[in-house]
Amino acid sequence: DNEQKITALMAKMTLEEKVGQMNQYNGFWDVTGPAPKEGNAAIKYEHLRKGWIGSMLSVRGVKEVRAIQKIAVEETRLGIPLIIGFDVIHGYKTLSPVPLAEAASWDMDAIKHSAQVAADEASASGINWTFGPMVDISRDARWGRVMEGAGEDPYLGSKVAFARVKGFQGDDLSLPNTIAACAKHFAGYGFAEAGRDYNTVDVGNATLYNTILPPFKAAKDAGVRTFMNSFNILNGVPATGNSFLQREILKGKWGFTGFVVTDWASIREMITWGYAKDGAEASLKAVTAGADMDMESRLYVTELVKLVNDGKVDVKLIDDAVRRILRVKYELGLFDDPYRYCNEKRERTTINSKANHEAVLDVARKSIVLLKNENSLLPLKKSGQKIALIGALAADKNSPLGSWRIAGDDNSAISVLEGMQQYKGNVLTYEKGAHLTIGKTSFQQELVFNTTDRSGFEAAKKAAKEANVVVMVLGEHGFQSGEGRSRTNLDLPGLQQELLEEIYKVNPNIVLVLNNGRPLALPWAAAHIPAIVEAWHLGSETGNAVAQVLYGDYNPSGKLPMSFPRNVGQIPIYYNQHSTGRPADSDKNVFWSHYTDVEKTPQFAFGHGLSYTTFKYGIPKLNKTVYLKGEPVQITVAITNTGNFDGKEVAQLYIQDISASLSRPVKELKGFEMVSLKKGETKTVNFTLTDTELGFYNNDGDFLTEPGIFKIFVGTASDNVQELQFELK
Ligand code: IFM
Repeated sequence: DNEQKITALMAKMTLEEKVGQMNQYNGFWDVTGPAPKEGNAAIKYEHLRKGWIGSMLSVRGVKEVRAIQKIAVEETRLGIPLIIGFDVIHGYKTLSPVPLAEAASWDMDAIKHSAQVAADEASASGINWTFGPMVDISRDARWGRVMEGAGEDPYLGSKVAFARVKGFQGDDLSLPNTIAACAKHFAGYGFAEAGRDYNTVDVGNATLYNTILPPFKAAKDAGVRTFMNSFNILNGVPATGNSFLQREILKGKWGFTGFVVTDWASIREMITWGYAKDGAEASLKAVTAGADMDMESRLYVTELVKLVNDGKVDVKLIDDAVRRILRVKYELGLFDDPYRYCNEKRERTTINSKANHEAVLDVARKSIVLLKNENSLLPLKKSGQKIALIGALAADKNSPLGSWRIAGDDNSAISVLEGMQQYKGNVLTYEKGAHLTIGKTSFQQELVFNTTDRSGFEAAKKAAKEANVVVMVLGEHGFQSGEGRSRTNLDLPGLQQELLEEIYKVNPNIVLVLNNGRPLALPWAAAHIPAIVEAWHLGSETGNAVAQVLYGDYNPSGKLPMSFPRNVGQIPIYYNQHSTGRPADSDKNVFWSHYTDVEKTPQFAFGHGLSYTTFKYGIPKLNKTVYLKGEPVQITVAITNTGNFDGKEVAQLYIQDISASLSRPVKELKGFEMVSLKKGETKTVNFTLTDTELGFYNNDGDFLTEPGIFKIFVGTASDNVQELQFELK
């Protein structure tokens, strides 16, 4: 079996070759042409030929991958193939919605399928391994990387993590259309102070065990083959040098048999954090703590051999890391055929296939959340209307692709304008109103917003005045969220808010279509605009998805995976908070937990999302009122479609353990069911709670299910539920 083959191979490896397997370099070099003579690339070639590289990242395309794989396989002493990693975050070329948007679908089959499509395209392009899913829970919309995750909730986050891992990896990693997944960033990265990327993380054990770790555990349970550690310190110790996380929990308690890759240069960054005096000490600490592969610190390759020879690092640690890395390479089938993922014909026929576009369109529609719809302004009538479409983002073909889409082709999205133009029954006029950004927009650079040029306002106002309905597409540029994109304002950047208010003066019949990679705080729009559609950054098929929803060919069913604040000062705001000792104003005085200037509730709560139809919940019922530990708790609720459209509803179940050995949140999501209902139809939804859903981790990381009274909440959103209770004996 593989373990024996690994043992035999390792017996032939020199220490240098072993350390080489633990070294990962970034690509972007012209391997298909003449090798550059100088600089980074030349060194990388030299190391590659010596067998000092185990993995490359961001090399892509069959031609390029084949060329470097050929060097590894044919020119190194032992011919060990490389594992090729890439950030396949929400699709490869055919782009699906950003992950936060997909989480809003609450549809695990769709999410899994989207990851399958991504794996299919990436693997057809030579990639064996994605640096996804990102499973970091975050309660801070200022943090730009919330777009890569599944939002604020560990239960939903765990389900999404599981679905994504299964989608990427399938059931057989050795198939040419599956790739290894990577649960990242282990751990705590989503709790960066003040939402500033890369910042300090300081959280207590209750949050670590109950909120941060569960999605990682779910990814592990789904069989994820790699983990990535993170840039942050966790309670003073960098995650990269953190034995408690990597050795004790991941490889110890959880029994993880795959390998851990560092985040980019995070071994070296331990020096800057003040946790290591130089590269040697940083390498020593990282390898001791269980970081198996060095992504671009270029330190393992220079330091580890000496550290072992000097007796500072036990060679057993190296052997363990190498075994883990080789194991995943074997599982991928790279030893059987290193060119398994290098099939030019498959690359041509798979990428951007019709089926892949249909799949991402499907998940894009499912990701849309209808936040508000007064007077049934939506869906739009299909004929006899004058529609004014306004906003720079309405015609943009690049921004909707979202952040983190390195392989995606620029300007390849269907814009909202293009999507709406396919509906020919109405008269559609388009006006930009104002440019959103100035100059070049790219994944690497800061965006510059237009704050002065209002020259398009008058034309936009004229179009709005003449229209029956105005559709405004406003929000964040696709590159405004993602890594390094923290914000302190969660408003509409540039002149968009001003434009919105100007248009409102001439025609308040506005449908606001939001584009964003994170929750925004838009109190004015929430108060004034009659219809608001959360359309995130939906990827390649954005315009088709949005138009189908606006015109009612698709009835929206998405629900928010993250609370939308009223203003930035409320952050962190999340539904599964603790009660405080003073949750309500009982004495009509100020001494209770609140703000004096704004309500403490969110603008739009976790789990909120409307439909064009209406759903009526019956009274939820428990099968008993007292349960013995281990007995399943069964809850049923009848839901009726009382409106005028067929539709889908995500029924949600929350619990509260009202008295426990640790204070528990006021609500915790513990179940959800999507139900399709035709007009007038009623269905009964069943939920089951077991000890797993009823329990929690104490501060030592032990899982407990404690007897006592539990409240149950069933409803359409975290802030719109019916309550019942039972006792667990
Ligand atoms: O995968 C990413 C990670 O999320 C952030 N740093 C760089 C890695 C590789 O691109």
